[in-house]
Amino acid sequence: MRKMQLLQLLADGRFHSGEALGQKLGIGRSAIWKALRQITSAGLELHAVPGKGYRLAQSIELLDAEKIAQHLSSNAQETLKQLDILSTVDSTNTYLSQNWEQHKGVCAVLAETQTQGRGRRGKPWVSPLASNLYLSVSWPLDLSPSQLGGLSLVIALSLRQALARFIRSDKLKIKWPNDIYHDGIKLAGVLTEMRGESTGPYRAIMGFGVNVNMAQTTQVDIDQAWTDVQSVIGKAVSRNQIAAALLNQLSLDIPHYCEHGLAAFAQEWRRWDYLHQQAVVVDASPRMLSGRACGIDENGCLLLETSQGERLSLHSGEVSLRLEKTSNV
Ligand code: BTN
Repeated sequence: MRKMQLLQLLADGRFHSGEALGQKLGIGRSAIWKALRQITSAGLELHAVPGKGYRLAQSIELLDAEKIAQHLSSNAQETLKQLDILSTVDSTNTYLSQNWEQHKGVCAVLAETQTQGRGRRGKPWVSPLASNLYLSVSWPLDLSPSQLGGLSLVIALSLRQALARFIRSDKLKIKWPNDIYHDGIKLAGVLTEMRGESTGPYRAIMGFGVNVNMAQTTQVDIDQAWTDVQSVIGKAVSRNQIAAALLNQLSLDIPHYCEHGLAAFAQEWRRWDYLHQQAVVVDASPRMLSGRACGIDENGCLLLETSQGERLSLHSGEVSLRLEKTSNV
């Protein structure tokens, strides 16, 4: 907690003396040092200059429910029944998965850091402090199980559209099923999970991880090439505004999908499909397939034309794939 209070004071990027920090927080020198160490071991870069004090290498904007609310559309305000901001959590998806039966309507949670952030296919999602967006949304649904595959594609389109407000680039694409790439490098990912019975009330827990300002953190260990919003556009960007843009887009797209299905998004998908007509290698264990990606079917499965001339529909839960010419998974 002290770490977060201290971070709040240092967020402006200016120098603060150890004494002033101690006074403001009502704690002694050694407690300040301990909290400063926690900030640096969380990966944020601190400058310490004798006679001046401490400052962050760059100013940061912490997550703020009021700032998010200011940028929400009236539609999103009506849709969203709860918005929680946490300093730290194991995983925002896990947080919303617990007690999901008690949630009323659509709920969202954001965290400054995750200790056990989860990616697709059991991979960890590296979640450095106060650098990126870790946002999960719990949404009650009345869709048939066959419509769920389409949903995860549609929310990737929502995320792409939200990011396009900040990154105005045709290079912002979606790699099936729901990775966001910029110029061929991963920028953001989505983890969708279901809670409840397909026959009864159930919810989609949709977790969005967006690299916003990875570069400011000193310790990042990710097993694939990545980029972040700030590096792409070359200036600082507000995580609160990105969160609001995404919530606005979801509150338009999800009801539209529930009413009109994937066909209503097919044209948009074709436009932003990173794999379109690309040669790909697919790990469909125990089979390895290679062929050409030919868009999606009406359920959101990837259509693959194999080198042997077979035409296959691949379900996202069952396969992982990469472009034939790169090693990016
Ligand atoms: C992927 O590309 O593998 C999906 C990454 C999803 C990460 C987000 S961060 C917020 C939410 N909480 C998690 O533990 N995972 C998702």
